[in-house]
Amino acid sequence: MTPARAPPFAQIEITTICNYRCFYCAGRDMPQQHMPMERFLGILERLPPSVRQVSLQGEGEPTAHNRFRDLVAAVRQRGLEPYTITNASLIRDPLWFAQAFPLIGISIDTLDAQLAESIGRLKLHRALKGVDRLIAAMGARRIVLHTVDFGQPLDDIREWARAKGFGQHRVQPLQGKADYVRSYRYKPPPRELPAEAPFALQCRYLEQAITSYYTLDGTELPCCFIKDTSSFRSSAELRADLAAGRVPASCSGCSEVRRAAEPLLVR
Ligand SMILES: C[S@@+](CC[C@H](N)C(=O)[O-])C[C@H]1O[C@@H](n2cnc3c(N)ncnc32)[C@H](O)[C@@H]1O
Ligand code: SF4
Ligand code: SF4
Repeated sequence: MTPARAPPFAQIEITTICNYRCFYCAGRDMPQQHMPMERFLGILERLPPSVRQVSLQGEGEPTAHNRFRDLVAAVRQRGLEPYTITNASLIRDPLWFAQAFPLIGISIDTLDAQLAESIGRLKLHRALKGVDRLIAAMGARRIVLHTVDFGQPLDDIREWARAKGFGQHRVQPLQGKADYVRSYRYKPPPRELPAEAPFALQCRYLEQAITSYYTLDGTELPCCFIKDTSSFRSSAELRADLAAGRVPASCSGCSEVRRAAEPLLVR
């Protein structure tokens, strides 16, 4: 089945450079580069007309891009809504962020400075200062807090999120895909599909065209989870493999893969 090509969201990996060293970050093993302006503008030109929101974010720190403001301005000039997720450690001009972003994502995994340091989220106090600057400039309701659950205690950060009044707190599990896990310093247990041979497999990103993801080199992917693009040819090929009951190398270990008969779980 070929889905209608109408994703409402696009995500563009504008950089792989970062000032942090998160133990779970696939970007630390990628070539370290910012996306050139011309490539970014070229991607904006070829976005499907259905796209309304563009997230400037991949396996690097978006606000570290030397032309971050120009990239955001280019999105807004086209009448599109910019979004980003930032580690909040480089926020120097919160009023600019307040004026440029209707909503913004920040990522904080723990409020324990020692734990933060040990997982590569360095100098936690700088990120917390950045968060407070954003709250003062735009209010907490327009901020989405992202937390990766890698097994750390979460009570404190959940309580902090409530007390600050963030618009949302999204806690997501550590990604279990093979092309992420190979970079991890601590290995989560591998995810196995059920032993009985499934008749067909599916993925909602391939069925519904939820997003278009553009890697640093401009390759368009059906989701943000394919970090090893060496065997990726097309979404149609991924769909055909899954329909035949095979998990393609690009999707190995992905929690989105499910049996065709399984009900769709909202994650
Ligand atoms: C890839 S980062 C890029 C933006 C920015 N540097 C940051 O960390 O906020 C975007 C989000 O993905 C999360 N993330 C990164 N690697 C992950 C992984 N292996 N599993 C789950 N979430 C991950 C980050 O914690 C962050 O919330
Ligand atoms: S802050 Fe973001 S880009 Fe940087 S190392 Fe952590 S997850 Fe990766
Ligand atoms: S990596 Fe996962 S989400 Fe992406 S296309 Fe493959 S199965 Fe779907």
